[in-house]
Amino acid sequence: MLSSIALFSLLGSALATPVDPVDLFKVFGSSCSTSGAASCHNTTSVDTCCTEYPGGLLLQTQFWDTDVAGSPADSWTIHGLWPDNCDGTYKSSCDPSRAYKDISSLLTAQNALSTLDFMKKYWLNNAGTSEELWEHEWAKHGTCYSTLEPSCLPKDSPKGAEAVAFFETTVKLFKSLPTYTWLANADITPSTSKTYTLSELTAALEKGSGGYTPALGCTSKKLNSISWYYNLKGSLVNGKFVPIDSPQSSTCPSSGIEYPVRQSSS
Ligand SMILES: *[C@@H]1O[C@H](CO)[C@@H](O)[C@H](O)[C@H]1NC(C)=O
Repeated sequence: MLSSIALFSLLGSALATPVDPVDLFKVFGSSCSTSGAASCHNTTSVDTCCTEYPGGLLLQTQFWDTDVAGSPADSWTIHGLWPDNCDGTYKSSCDPSRAYKDISSLLTAQNALSTLDFMKKYWLNNAGTSEELWEHEWAKHGTCYSTLEPSCLPKDSPKGAEAVAFFETTVKLFKSLPTYTWLANADITPSTSKTYTLSELTAALEKGSGGYTPALGCTSKKLNSISWYYNLKGSLVNGKFVPIDSPQSSTCPSSGIEYPVRQSSS
């Protein structure tokens, strides 16, 4: 008796006010299992609402930008979360009809306020507004997720709920990948004079991540980006990320790597 009253009021409040998509999945019970094969590992045909396909190789990409006003001194920033195909090729801009504008308002309307606050600090554009970067990342990469097809979402999901889920998941995953701290723990910090070897950087990041090798990006000798690789069990909304070694090599030289100091903040 008590529990059905509790359930009724949970449903009542969920329907009355916008809830974030992760809660929608809980309330409406349309969640995917996270115990089956990870993406890129299915050996039979699978439901693409619950297994990411064909973009089952996920990259959480980060920037080390030195010239963005207000960027945090002690953190890398978010570039995106990309669904590459298992062979490393990728599709892009998969559904122009869902290239939503005004991501800030979308997140606000669907109660993803803490995610939006975090994005304002850690998901920054070095050549335009952050809003433009968020729209670009959603339109180019986010619309390619099979598990975020609107038909895969619980019915009654508000328009754009799948994009809200994309931003929430990206932020959550980024928070589990403190690249700056893992490097700093090995005394690898930005410097105007010191340089580092690729094996030093890689060893520090493997130690921090529990043994996984990321791909570092350099422009000539300057470190400026990183990609952390995953397969996914279940949906991007609330699935389980399975870390893997990068299938791609770093683009940095083996030694003499510069980790540039930020020019100035704010
Ligand atoms: C994995 O699932 C997809 C989507 O159903 C399917 O097209 C693909 O052939 C499957 N892979 C294997 C090896 O069965």
